[in-house]
Amino acid sequence: MKILVFTEKPFAPAAVQAIENVINASGNELELVEMGTRADLLEAVKNAEGLIVRSDKIDAEVMDAAPLLKVIVRAGAGYDNIDLEAATKHGICVMNTPGQNSNAVAELVFGMIVMMCRNQYNGKSGSELKGKSLGIYAFGQVGRNVARIAKGFGMDLEALDKFVPDAIMEGEGVKPVHTPEELFSNNHFVSLHIPATAETRNSIGYDLVMKMPQGGVLINTARKEVIDEAGLMKALEERPDLRYISDIKPDTAEEFEKRFAARVFFTPKKMGAQTAEANFNAGVAAAEQVVAYLKDGWNKYQVNK
Ligand code: 3PG
Repeated sequence: MKILVFTEKPFAPAAVQAIENVINASGNELELVEMGTRADLLEAVKNAEGLIVRSDKIDAEVMDAAPLLKVIVRAGAGYDNIDLEAATKHGICVMNTPGQNSNAVAELVFGMIVMMCRNQYNGKSGSELKGKSLGIYAFGQVGRNVARIAKGFGMDLEALDKFVPDAIMEGEGVKPVHTPEELFSNNHFVSLHIPATAETRNSIGYDLVMKMPQGGVLINTARKEVIDEAGLMKALEERPDLRYISDIKPDTAEEFEKRFAARVFFTPKKMGAQTAEANFNAGVAAAEQVVAYLKDGWNKYQVNK
Protein backbone atom coordinates (compact mmCIF):
# COMPACT_ATOMS: atom_id res chain seq x y z
CA MET A 1 0.00 0.00 0.00
CA LYS A 2 1.23 3.50 -0.77
CA ILE A 3 1.71 5.94 2.09
CA LEU A 4 2.19 9.52 0.97
CA VAL A 5 4.15 11.98 3.10
CA PHE A 6 3.22 15.46 1.88
CA THR A 7 4.73 18.42 3.72
CA GLU A 8 5.02 21.99 2.56
CA LYS A 9 7.43 22.54 5.48
CA PRO A 10 9.87 19.59 5.29
CA PHE A 11 10.85 17.34 8.19
CA ALA A 12 14.54 17.13 9.16
CA PRO A 13 16.39 14.57 6.98
CA ALA A 14 16.89 12.16 9.92
CA ALA A 15 13.14 12.21 10.53
CA VAL A 16 12.43 11.42 6.87
CA GLN A 17 14.86 8.49 7.04
CA ALA A 18 13.19 7.17 10.19
CA ILE A 19 9.72 7.51 8.63
CA GLU A 20 10.95 5.61 5.59
CA ASN A 21 12.37 2.84 7.79
CA VAL A 22 9.04 2.38 9.59
CA ILE A 23 7.09 2.29 6.32
CA ASN A 24 9.52 -0.06 4.55
CA ALA A 25 9.63 -2.43 7.53
CA SER A 26 5.83 -2.70 7.39
CA GLY A 27 5.92 -3.78 3.74
CA ASN A 28 4.23 -0.57 2.59
CA GLU A 29 5.68 1.91 0.14
CA LEU A 30 6.60 5.54 0.83
CA GLU A 31 6.11 8.44 -1.55
CA LEU A 32 7.67 11.65 -0.30
CA VAL A 33 6.59 15.04 -1.61
CA GLU A 34 8.27 17.96 0.15
CA MET A 35 7.51 21.61 -0.58
CA GLY A 36 4.91 20.40 -3.09
CA THR A 37 2.14 22.46 -4.65
CA ARG A 38 -1.57 21.84 -4.35
CA ALA A 39 -1.46 20.28 -7.84
CA ASP A 40 1.33 17.92 -6.67
CA LEU A 41 -0.82 16.89 -3.73
CA LEU A 42 -3.91 16.22 -5.85
CA GLU A 43 -1.82 14.08 -8.19
CA ALA A 44 0.10 12.18 -5.51
CA VAL A 45 -2.96 11.25 -3.39
CA LYS A 46 -4.63 9.47 -6.31
CA ASN A 47 -3.34 6.04 -5.33
CA ALA A 48 -2.40 6.66 -1.66
CA GLU A 49 -4.00 4.60 1.11
CA GLY A 50 -2.31 6.50 3.92
CA LEU A 51 -1.36 10.18 4.15
CA ILE A 52 0.99 11.98 6.56
CA VAL A 53 0.91 15.79 6.67
CA ARG A 54 1.84 18.71 8.93
CA SER A 55 -0.14 21.98 8.68
CA ASP A 56 -1.00 21.23 5.05
CA LYS A 57 -4.61 21.93 4.12
CA ILE A 58 -6.51 18.70 3.53
CA ASP A 59 -10.07 19.37 2.43
CA ALA A 60 -12.87 17.61 0.53
CA GLU A 61 -11.19 18.28 -2.82
CA VAL A 62 -8.10 16.33 -1.72
CA MET A 63 -10.24 13.50 -0.39
CA ASP A 64 -12.30 13.38 -3.62
CA ALA A 65 -9.02 12.96 -5.49
CA ALA A 66 -8.00 10.05 -3.24
CA PRO A 67 -10.44 7.16 -3.70
CA LEU A 68 -8.20 4.65 -1.89
CA LEU A 69 -7.38 6.86 1.09
CA LYS A 70 -8.17 5.25 4.46
CA VAL A 71 -6.17 7.22 7.01
CA ILE A 72 -4.66 10.68 7.43
CA VAL A 73 -2.22 11.38 10.25
CA ARG A 74 -1.35 14.94 11.10
CA ALA A 75 2.24 14.72 12.40
CA GLY A 76 1.67 17.22 15.17
CA ALA A 77 -0.99 18.43 17.54
CA GLY A 78 -3.40 20.88 15.88
CA TYR A 79 -5.66 19.42 13.19
CA ASP A 80 -7.57 22.55 12.17
CA ASN A 81 -6.01 22.13 8.70
CA ILE A 82 -8.03 18.97 8.07
CA ASP A 83 -11.73 18.94 7.19
CA LEU A 84 -12.89 16.35 9.70
CA GLU A 85 -16.48 16.32 8.50
CA ALA A 86 -15.39 15.59 4.94
CA ALA A 87 -13.05 12.87 6.20
CA THR A 88 -15.87 11.18 8.10
CA LYS A 89 -18.10 11.35 5.00
CA HIS A 90 -15.31 9.76 2.97
CA GLY A 91 -14.85 7.04 5.62
CA ILE A 92 -11.31 8.26 6.36
CA CYS A 93 -9.83 8.04 9.86
CA VAL A 94 -7.96 11.19 10.96
CA MET A 95 -5.43 11.07 13.80
CA ASN A 96 -2.91 13.48 15.31
CA THR A 97 0.26 12.62 17.28
CA PRO A 98 -0.35 14.25 20.66
CA GLY A 99 2.64 15.31 22.72
CA GLN A 100 5.31 14.50 20.16
CA ASN A 101 6.35 18.07 19.39
CA SER A 102 5.19 19.83 22.55
CA ASN A 103 8.61 20.30 24.19
CA ALA A 104 9.89 22.03 21.06
CA VAL A 105 7.02 24.51 21.12
CA ALA A 106 7.42 25.11 24.86
CA GLU A 107 11.14 25.81 24.50
CA LEU A 108 10.44 28.36 21.77
CA VAL A 109 8.03 30.17 24.11
CA PHE A 110 10.96 30.94 26.40
CA GLY A 111 13.35 31.63 23.55
CA MET A 112 10.98 34.36 22.39
CA ILE A 113 10.17 35.68 25.88
CA VAL A 114 13.84 36.10 26.80
CA MET A 115 14.53 37.75 23.45
CA MET A 116 11.70 40.25 23.99
CA CYS A 117 12.65 40.92 27.63
CA ARG A 118 16.21 41.69 26.50
CA ASN A 119 14.90 44.16 23.91
CA GLN A 120 15.73 41.87 21.01
CA TYR A 121 19.39 42.06 22.07
CA ASN A 122 19.77 45.72 21.15
CA GLY A 123 22.06 46.45 24.08
CA LYS A 124 19.51 48.37 26.19
CA SER A 125 18.76 47.28 29.75
CA GLY A 126 16.06 44.60 29.81
CA SER A 127 14.20 42.61 32.45
CA GLU A 128 14.28 39.14 34.01
CA LEU A 129 11.70 36.38 34.28
CA LYS A 130 12.44 35.35 37.87
CA GLY A 131 9.61 36.32 40.21
CA LYS A 132 7.30 37.31 37.33
CA SER A 133 3.96 35.64 36.77
CA LEU A 134 3.02 33.55 33.75
CA GLY A 135 -0.52 32.63 32.78
CA ILE A 136 -0.83 29.48 30.67
CA TYR A 137 -3.96 29.43 28.52
CA ALA A 138 -4.73 25.72 28.03
CA PHE A 139 -2.97 23.12 30.12
CA GLY A 140 -2.44 20.40 27.53
CA GLN A 141 0.87 18.88 26.47
CA VAL A 142 2.47 22.19 25.46
CA GLY A 143 1.05 24.07 28.46
CA ARG A 144 2.49 21.50 30.85
CA ASN A 145 5.92 21.70 29.26
CA VAL A 146 5.74 25.49 29.50
CA ALA A 147 4.98 25.14 33.23
CA ARG A 148 7.92 22.75 33.73
CA ILE A 149 10.38 25.13 32.08
CA ALA A 150 8.92 28.24 33.76
CA LYS A 151 9.64 26.74 37.17
CA GLY A 152 13.33 26.70 36.25
CA PHE A 153 13.13 30.44 35.62
CA GLY A 154 11.53 30.93 39.07
CA MET A 155 8.22 32.20 37.68
CA ASP A 156 4.83 32.08 39.46
CA LEU A 157 2.30 30.11 37.45
CA GLU A 158 -1.41 30.15 36.77
CA ALA A 159 -3.34 28.18 34.16
CA LEU A 160 -6.80 28.13 32.65
CA ASP A 161 -8.25 24.99 31.10
CA LYS A 162 -11.86 23.93 31.55
CA PHE A 163 -10.99 20.37 30.54
CA VAL A 164 -8.29 19.89 33.22
CA PRO A 165 -9.22 19.38 36.89
CA ASP A 166 -7.77 21.90 39.38
CA ALA A 167 -6.02 19.08 41.26
CA ILE A 168 -3.88 18.21 38.21
CA MET A 169 -2.64 21.80 37.93
CA GLU A 170 -2.11 22.09 41.68
CA GLY A 171 -0.12 18.83 41.59
CA GLU A 172 2.25 20.53 39.15
CA GLY A 173 2.61 23.68 41.26
CA VAL A 174 0.28 25.74 39.06
CA LYS A 175 -2.62 27.80 40.43
CA PRO A 176 -5.85 27.14 38.51
CA VAL A 177 -7.99 30.09 37.41
CA HIS A 178 -11.39 29.76 35.83
CA THR A 179 -11.90 32.72 33.49
CA PRO A 180 -9.78 34.35 30.78
CA GLU A 181 -10.33 37.68 32.58
CA GLU A 182 -8.58 36.36 35.70
CA LEU A 183 -5.71 34.91 33.66
CA PHE A 184 -5.05 38.18 31.84
CA SER A 185 -5.52 40.41 34.91
CA ASN A 186 -3.18 38.40 37.11
CA ASN A 187 -0.18 37.75 34.87
CA HIS A 188 2.76 39.70 33.42
CA PHE A 189 3.04 37.09 30.66
CA VAL A 190 0.19 35.15 29.05
CA SER A 191 1.11 32.24 26.80
CA LEU A 192 -1.59 30.91 24.46
CA HIS A 193 -1.95 27.17 23.82
CA ILE A 194 -5.60 26.96 22.80
CA PRO A 195 -6.58 25.28 19.52
CA ALA A 196 -8.32 27.21 16.73
CA THR A 197 -11.98 26.22 17.04
CA ALA A 198 -15.30 27.97 16.45
CA GLU A 199 -15.26 28.89 20.14
CA THR A 200 -11.70 30.28 20.30
CA ARG A 201 -11.49 32.14 16.97
CA ASN A 202 -10.95 35.91 17.51
CA SER A 203 -11.37 35.34 21.25
CA ILE A 204 -8.21 37.20 22.35
CA GLY A 205 -8.70 40.88 21.72
CA TYR A 206 -8.95 44.36 23.19
CA ASP A 207 -10.88 43.64 26.38
CA LEU A 208 -8.66 40.80 27.58
CA VAL A 209 -5.34 42.31 26.60
CA MET A 210 -6.20 45.63 28.26
CA LYS A 211 -6.56 43.75 31.55
CA MET A 212 -2.87 42.79 31.60
CA PRO A 213 -0.67 44.36 34.29
CA GLN A 214 1.82 47.10 33.39
CA GLY A 215 4.48 45.73 31.02
CA GLY A 216 2.35 42.76 29.94
CA VAL A 217 3.60 40.44 27.21
CA LEU A 218 1.28 38.20 25.17
CA ILE A 219 2.89 35.12 23.61
CA ASN A 220 1.19 33.15 20.86
CA THR A 221 2.61 29.82 19.72
CA ALA A 222 -0.88 28.44 19.07
CA ARG A 223 -2.77 29.74 16.03
CA LYS A 224 -3.15 33.23 14.50
CA GLU A 225 -6.90 32.67 14.22
CA VAL A 226 -7.42 32.93 17.99
CA ILE A 227 -6.38 36.61 17.90
CA ASP A 228 -8.73 39.48 17.13
CA GLU A 229 -6.02 41.45 15.32
CA ALA A 230 -7.88 44.76 15.22
CA GLY A 231 -8.65 44.54 18.94
CA LEU A 232 -5.06 43.67 19.81
CA MET A 233 -3.78 46.58 17.71
CA LYS A 234 -6.11 48.98 19.51
CA ALA A 235 -4.83 47.72 22.88
CA LEU A 236 -1.17 48.11 21.80
CA GLU A 237 -1.98 51.63 20.59
CA GLU A 238 -3.53 52.66 23.90
CA ARG A 239 -1.02 50.85 26.12
CA PRO A 240 2.58 51.54 25.02
CA ASP A 241 3.78 49.20 27.77
CA LEU A 242 2.24 46.09 26.15
CA ARG A 243 4.09 43.73 23.81
CA TYR A 244 3.10 40.87 21.51
CA ILE A 245 5.24 37.93 20.37
CA SER A 246 3.95 35.33 17.95
CA ASP A 247 5.23 32.24 16.19
CA ILE A 248 2.46 32.71 13.63
CA LYS A 249 2.56 35.91 11.60
CA PRO A 250 -0.73 37.80 11.87
CA ASP A 251 -2.55 38.57 8.61
CA THR A 252 -1.78 42.22 9.33
CA ALA A 253 1.85 41.64 10.37
CA GLU A 254 3.21 44.55 8.35
CA GLU A 255 0.87 47.00 10.02
CA PHE A 256 1.76 45.64 13.48
CA GLU A 257 5.48 46.01 12.69
CA LYS A 258 5.05 49.48 11.22
CA ARG A 259 3.01 50.80 14.13
CA PHE A 260 4.66 49.05 17.06
CA ALA A 261 8.22 48.31 15.87
CA ALA A 262 10.23 46.43 18.51
CA ARG A 263 7.17 45.89 20.73
CA VAL A 264 6.13 43.05 18.45
CA PHE A 265 8.04 40.08 17.09
CA PHE A 266 6.90 37.43 14.59
CA THR A 267 8.90 34.44 13.37
CA PRO A 268 9.08 34.46 9.55
CA LYS A 269 7.57 30.95 9.43
CA LYS A 270 5.96 28.87 12.21
CA MET A 271 9.03 27.47 13.98
CA GLY A 272 7.61 25.96 17.18
CA ALA A 273 7.81 22.34 16.07
CA GLN A 274 10.69 22.87 13.67
CA THR A 275 13.41 20.95 15.53
CA ALA A 276 15.17 17.72 14.60
CA GLU A 277 13.78 16.09 17.74
CA ALA A 278 10.17 17.17 17.23
CA ASN A 279 10.29 16.22 13.53
CA PHE A 280 11.66 12.83 14.45
CA ASN A 281 9.17 12.15 17.24
CA ALA A 282 6.09 13.38 15.37
CA GLY A 283 7.17 11.87 12.04
CA VAL A 284 7.91 8.42 13.44
CA ALA A 285 4.72 8.43 15.52
CA ALA A 286 2.73 9.38 12.41
CA ALA A 287 4.35 6.63 10.35
CA GLU A 288 3.72 4.04 13.07
CA GLN A 289 0.10 5.16 13.42
CA VAL A 290 -0.60 5.01 9.68
CA VAL A 291 0.99 1.56 9.44
CA ALA A 292 -0.95 0.29 12.48
CA TYR A 293 -4.22 1.63 11.12
CA LEU A 294 -3.69 0.06 7.71
CA LYS A 295 -2.70 -3.25 9.36
CA ASP A 296 -5.48 -3.71 11.87
CA GLY A 297 -7.49 -0.50 12.29
CA TRP A 298 -5.51 0.88 15.29
CA ASN A 299 -7.06 4.28 15.95
CA LYS A 300 -6.16 5.41 19.48
CA TYR A 301 -5.72 9.07 18.48
CA GLN A 302 -8.61 9.36 16.04
CA VAL A 303 -10.07 12.87 16.14
CA ASN A 304 -13.05 12.48 13.81
CA LYS A 305 -15.04 9.86 15.74
C1 3PG B 1 1.18 21.60 15.82
O1 3PG B 1 -0.02 21.85 15.80
O2 3PG B 1 1.62 20.45 16.00
C2 3PG B 1 2.18 22.71 15.72
O3 3PG B 1 1.56 23.92 15.50
C3 3PG B 1 3.27 22.46 14.68
O4 3PG B 1 2.81 22.57 13.37
P1 3PG B 1 3.79 22.32 12.09
O5 3PG B 1 3.89 20.84 11.91
O6 3PG B 1 3.10 22.98 10.97
O7 3PG B 1 5.11 22.93 12.38
